[in-house]
Amino acid sequence: MEIIKVANYEEMSTVAGKRIAERVRNNPNIVLGLATGSTPQGVYQYLIHDFKINGTSYKNVTSVNLDEYVGMDPEDPNSYHYFMRKNLFDHINMVNENVHVPNGVANNLDEECIRYEQGIKELGGIDLQLLGIGENGHIGFNEPGTPFSSRTHIVTLSENTRKANSRFFASIEDVPKQAITMGIATILDSREILLLASGEKKAKAVARLLKQGISEDFPASSLKQHKNVTIIADQDALKYS
Ligand code: PGA
Repeated sequence: MEIIKVANYEEMSTVAGKRIAERVRNNPNIVLGLATGSTPQGVYQYLIHDFKINGTSYKNVTSVNLDEYVGMDPEDPNSYHYFMRKNLFDHINMVNENVHVPNGVANNLDEECIRYEQGIKELGGIDLQLLGIGENGHIGFNEPGTPFSSRTHIVTLSENTRKANSRFFASIEDVPKQAITMGIATILDSREILLLASGEKKAKAVARLLKQGISEDFPASSLKQHKNVTIIADQDALKYS
C-alpha cells in the first residue's frame, strides 16, 4: 500500500481528484467505482471544477457505486442515488445509462445483489475504486466480521455506523437498518483502489490499518491483500500512525 500524506481535507481532495481526472483522460471508457459520505465530497468538487475548466469528458465513463440504503427510493434526498446526482453527476456530462447504484427498493433484494454483481462483471470490472473508511474499519458497508470472500450482499448496519451516519438524518431512528453493498471480494477485484481518510475521527481506524495485521474483524485490512492500493490521508487522520 502506498501512503500519500497530506495536510488537510482540501489537499486530500485535490490529490485524489487530480489522480481520478488523469485516469479518466487516459482512459475515456474507464469504469469508476464511486463512494458517498463526507470524505469524497471534496473530490467530486474538484472533478466538477476540472470538468468546467479542463473539459475532462465523462461521456463514455461508467460508474458503479459501492452501496445504497435498503428501502430508500432514488428520489429520497438521503439516498445515495440522490447524493451522487447532487454532488457529481448533475454537474458533469455523465450519461444516465452509464450510472449504476444498487436499487434499495428492488422487490427482490437478493436478486438485486446478483444483478448488481453480474453487472460489474459484464462491464469488465472496476478500473479505479474510490473508498472511504468507517470509524470501525468498514469499507463500503462491509461491517466488521464480513467475509473477505463476500460479493454484493445485504447488510445489517452496525449501531456504530448508524450513529456515524445519523448526522445526515433528523434522528438516529431515521437511519435505515440495512443496506446493499458491494462485497469485499467485489472491491478487491478492482484494478486500482484509492482510499481516503481525513480527520481525527478516522485516526484510530487508519492506525489499525497501517500497523496491524489482516483480520476479518477489520474489513479495511483486506486491502493489504491487494497490489495497487493508495491511501491518501491527512495529518489528523494519521495522528496515531
Ligand atoms: P464518511 O464515511 O466519508 O462520511 O466519513 C466513510 C465511510 O463510512 O466509509
